[in-house]
Amino acid sequence: MYLVTGATGGLGRRIVQVLREQGSSVRAFVRLTSKYSSLEQRGAEVFIGDLQQERDLQKACQGVDYIISAHGSNEVSGSAQALDYRANIELIDQAKANGVKHFVFISVLGADRNYEDAPVFKAKRAVERYLENSGVPYTILRPSGFASNLLPLAERFQQTGIYVLIGDPLSRSSIVSTDDLARIAAASPTTEGARNQVFAVGGPEVLERGEIPKIFGRIFKKEPILLNPPLLAVDGIRSLVGVFNPGAKAALGTFRTLLAHEFYTTPAEVERLESVYGFKLESLESFVRRYMGL
Ligand SMILES: NC(=O)c1ccc[n+]([C@@H]2O[C@H](COP(=O)([O-])OP(=O)(O)OC[C@H]3O[C@@H](n4cnc5c(N)ncnc54)[C@H](OP(=O)(O)O)[C@@H]3O)[C@@H](O)[C@H]2O)c1
Repeated sequence: MYLVTGATGGLGRRIVQVLREQGSSVRAFVRLTSKYSSLEQRGAEVFIGDLQQERDLQKACQGVDYIISAHGSNEVSGSAQALDYRANIELIDQAKANGVKHFVFISVLGADRNYEDAPVFKAKRAVERYLENSGVPYTILRPSGFASNLLPLAERFQQTGIYVLIGDPLSRSSIVSTDDLARIAAASPTTEGARNQVFAVGGPEVLERGEIPKIFGRIFKKEPILLNPPLLAVDGIRSLVGVFNPGAKAALGTFRTLLAHEFYTTPAEVERLESVYGFKLESLESFVRRYMGL
């Protein structure tokens, strides 16, 4: 039995799908308020709970062989301390107590760079360390930005031709196909070369962020209209938000870190992934074309 947390999220949903397609039993950890009916339709066992409640985590881990932690905080859902740190520490403790055979942790590319003002990065790094020292067999995946995040932007681009790019268009990233990442996460517990390993997970190409609207332009046969506010705009919004809501200001620190730095994988890292997991990674263009039916 696989326990998947964040099962209604962009990544978690796909992990459940991959596991169910290969016939594995899955317990999907969801909130009562989440949209989880499609997970039930796929044949997953739905466990309703709150990751901030230790008792729910304890119950969810009973009888489980593998845990895939794919949940995360955002500006709306809650704090990095409670979700990205505390809930994962409790999951690892429960994995140990229940003799779980493998724990897959979705971290973030750059977790090891000690960014000061990014609570999610700090929490992920602390969890990585805890997991590495726990004695529970593990795989740590450090993904770059997900291609599925760009689908709403692609839809808007298709209608308007407008693309909003905050910050430096020359800054590089290697957007990963969320479907590839789900395959990698689902395969990790049973892939020999993934045992007790840390992988940077990016797409097969390093893109300057300014190339993304050009890719959209190619796909939708439209000349991009680029709106390019500076990073200072985010700083202004952060200061304003901070007056009313210090928690949201802290969460925006992670968002700013993502915009201010480069997150890409090297060709050697891509080669290592493809060789361990045995398939070729998909480009951003192919991902968007597939989802947009083009
Ligand atoms: N998105 C990216 O580009 C990116 C890049 C690198 C790493 N990551 C990491 O990858 C992981 C997955 O990201 P994602 O974009 O798929 O996340 P997401 O779409 O924001 O999903 C977050 C999931 O966590 C669940 N969740 C939040 N609070 C919860 C609570 N108190 N109790 C139970 N469930 C709760 C959400 O449930 P609801 O449906 O109820 O809200 C949702 O299923 C995260 O760890 C994230 O940090 C993401």
